[in-house]
Amino acid sequence: MTPDTTEPLYTRDIDPGPITSRRVALVGYGNHGRSHALCLRDSGVSQIRIALRAGSASRAKAEADGFEVVTVAEAAAWADVIALLAADEAHRQIWTQDILPHRKPGQALIVCHGFSVHYGMIEAPADADIILAAAKGPGGAVRQEFLKGRGLIGFWAVHQDASGQARALALAYLAAIGSGNVGIFPTTFREETVSDLFGEQVVLVGGMVALAKASFTRLTAAGVSERMAYIDCVHELKYLADLIQERGIAGMYEAISDTAEFGAREIEDAIAGPELLTVFDGAMEAIESGSFARKWVERYESGDRLQAERARDRALPIEAAGAELRSRLGTATK
Ligand SMILES: NC(=O)c1ccc[n+]([C@@H]2O[C@H](COP(=O)([O-])OP(=O)(O)OC[C@H]3O[C@@H](n4cnc5c(N)ncnc54)[C@H](OP(=O)(O)O)[C@@H]3O)[C@@H](O)[C@H]2O)c1
Repeated sequence: MTPDTTEPLYTRDIDPGPITSRRVALVGYGNHGRSHALCLRDSGVSQIRIALRAGSASRAKAEADGFEVVTVAEAAAWADVIALLAADEAHRQIWTQDILPHRKPGQALIVCHGFSVHYGMIEAPADADIILAAAKGPGGAVRQEFLKGRGLIGFWAVHQDASGQARALALAYLAAIGSGNVGIFPTTFREETVSDLFGEQVVLVGGMVALAKASFTRLTAAGVSERMAYIDCVHELKYLADLIQERGIAGMYEAISDTAEFGAREIEDAIAGPELLTVFDGAMEAIESGSFARKWVERYESGDRLQAERARDRALPIEAAGAELRSRLGTATK
C-alpha cells in the first residue's frame, strides 16, 4: 500500500462558524459525550443540550457540569446538529425510536465512529448531512489533551451532504474538540469502521487478551507462580505499549534488552503463522460482510449485555492473580 501523503488540516485552516452558530445536542454523556460537550463549550458553542435516556446514571454529572439535560426526542426536535455519542449497538434503536420521528428538518447527524452508518443501521433522510468526526482514541483523552492545548488526531468523512456544508461542519466540530491542534485527516466511513473493528478485535483487545490468557496458563502449567506469570504476561504490557507509542516498534526493540529482542525475533514469524492469518481472514470477512455487526446489534437488542462472558472472566485464576498483585502494589481500584 502506498503511504498516505494527505496533508492534515489545523485549527488555523478551519472556520469555526458551522459549529459555533448551531444548536448542538449530544446524545450520551459517557467518555466521548462528556469530553466533547465540555470542549465544544470551551470552543464557543453556546447552545448545547445533553440528551439522555430515562433514568440515566449520567444525568447528575451532566447537570453538575452545567448542561441542560433533555430527552432524546426533545433534542431531536430542538437541535441543528445531533452528535450521536451513545454506544454504537444502541444507535439503531435510538435513531428509529427517538430521533427520526421527532427530528427537526435539515438537522445534521454526527457520529464519532462509522459503525452504525456504514452498516446501514441509520437510514439517512434526504435532508440530513451525515458526518463522521472521529477523534481517534478513548473519550477521556479528548478532554485531557484539549486541556493541555492539544487534541487527538481527527478523521472526517461525509456519508451524505444534503446542505453542501457537511465537510465544513465536520472540520469545525473536530477543531472545536481539539483535533485541529494536532491534525485532521480525511477518511471514509468504510475505512474508519473496518480499521477500528479489526484493530480492536485482533490486536488491541482480542489479540492481546488471547495472548495474555494463553501465556498465563502455559507458564503456570510449567510451575511458575500465578503472581510471577501475571507480571510477565499481563502487568508489564503497559511498559511495552508506552515504548511503542513513544518510539515505534523498531524503537521499542532498540530500547529493550538484546535478549528480549532476540527471543522475540526468533518467535515473531511463528506466532504470525498460517493459523493466525486464517483467524485474521475470518475476522476481516465478518467485519466486511457486516455479519459481525448484525450479530452484535441483534444480541444487544435482545437484551444481552455480555453478562455471561463477564461473569466467566471474573472467575478465572488470571483475575485473582491480578487483583492480588494490585492490592500488594496499592494500585487496586476501590
Ligand atoms: N473515534 C474513536 O476513536 C472512538 C473511540 C472510542 C469510542 N468511540 C465512539 O464513541 C461513541 C461513544 O463511546 P463512549 O466510549 O463514549 O461510550 P460510553 O462511555 O460507554 O458512553 C456511552 C453513552 O451512551 C449512552 N447510551 C447507551 N445506550 C443508550 C441508549 N439506549 N439510549 C441513550 N443513551 C444510551 C450511555 O448512557 P448512560 O450514561 O445512561 O449509561 C452513555 O452516556 C461510540 O460511537 C464509540 O464507538 C470512538
